Amino acid sequence: MPLQGRRILLIIAGGIAAYKSLDLIRRLRERGAAVRVVMTAAAQRFVTPLAAASLSGDQVYTDLFSLTEESEMGHLRLAAEADLVVVAPATADLLAKMAAGLADDLASTILLAADKPILIAPAMNTRMWLHAATIANLALLERRGVERIGPNAGPLAEHESGPGRMAEPLEIVAAVEQCLGGGALSGRRAIVTSGPTHEPLDPVRYIANRSSGKQGHAIAAALARLGAETVLVSGPTSEPDPPGVRVLHVETAREMLAACEKALPADIAVCAAAVADWRAEAAPQKLKKKNGPPPTLKLVENPDILATLSKPGNRRPRLVVGFAAETEKLIEHAQAKRAKKGCDWIIANDVSAPAGTFGGDANTVHVIDEAGVEDWPPLSKREVAARLATRIARFLAQKAAE
Ligand code: C5P
Repeated sequence: MPLQGRRILLIIAGGIAAYKSLDLIRRLRERGAAVRVVMTAAAQRFVTPLAAASLSGDQVYTDLFSLTEESEMGHLRLAAEADLVVVAPATADLLAKMAAGLADDLASTILLAADKPILIAPAMNTRMWLHAATIANLALLERRGVERIGPNAGPLAEHESGPGRMAEPLEIVAAVEQCLGGGALSGRRAIVTSGPTHEPLDPVRYIANRSSGKQGHAIAAALARLGAETVLVSGPTSEPDPPGVRVLHVETAREMLAACEKALPADIAVCAAAVADWRAEAAPQKLKKKNGPPPTLKLVENPDILATLSKPGNRRPRLVVGFAAETEKLIEHAQAKRAKKGCDWIIANDVSAPAGTFGGDANTVHVIDEAGVEDWPPLSKREVAARLATRIARFLAQKAAE
């Protein structure tokens, strides 16, 4: 059974689609999952806790302040004891609460405290779905790593039609299976580097670059979704820590290398960070403007993390993947980089200004390995990450079978 032994915490919010969530409980259990249900007050106006309890075979949790529920199961343990939190239906109201970090009932408190992946199945009236507030809330939640299925377009309540119908239970089940990844990388360890590094010039100034960390963070999240025990070594970025990933925050290239070496051994290393090639000899005090010529920066070379991790030896990860951000002669330069650094795969991407890769959400990449070049279509960074994680899982499974 595809979901055997997996534990789902299903949060049912108050919308007419809640009736489909009863079927979702049944479908998840048919596949071997254990389902524990939380219902909001509004959800209980649409379907009864008794119906959900009968189908889940477990108590249904409804009240943040219930003495009985708290004594039997502290509300924070509900998410801690799940592999995945599913919100279906996710109403506009609950999405807004999640985005704002409100916690005024059991469902929103669990969602704020959860350290597990979250999958939402939105359902609402088309005008609510298309409202700028909902669009902004959703973009924020997705940036934080929340997964989404649907909504679909079609007939809605109140004789309306358009996008807003909750995905069908079997579609949600497929998304659950994808989120849990069937554990294609379970038992594997991964290290991912992401973001820029900051190299100090003095206590207040530093050299940096335009890397946003979006691609690296998405890769760490995708590997974790496939079950890999993932350490993300991140330079300074404004990206939130992905769920289910251990994040080590660093500033400089040397700190990044030390954190990676501490995280070894690993089966997989993906170096997506834009590590500064050089650092300055940092002045101990703030450099002062004086009459006379401006100071000259004396740069020294930083360690190459990718090349270090790629060095043959018994601590070398089985698969080392690098990135080649280039502004010209993309494939040629990337192939040379793969040979020079000794990594297994290089993901080549065009970071010239017209491509909009730095800081943007889209990425067009080419995967270069021993066999040659694989061109991927333009994808979002999340999609690049998901594909890469799947390719890594396939590669390691093949190697294990050899
Ligand atoms: O900067 P460069 O084009 O050499 O980066 C290519 C690859 O090497 C990237 O995967 C990057 O993360 C990695 N790199 C590194 N340490 C450095 C420089 C680059 O890990 N000092």
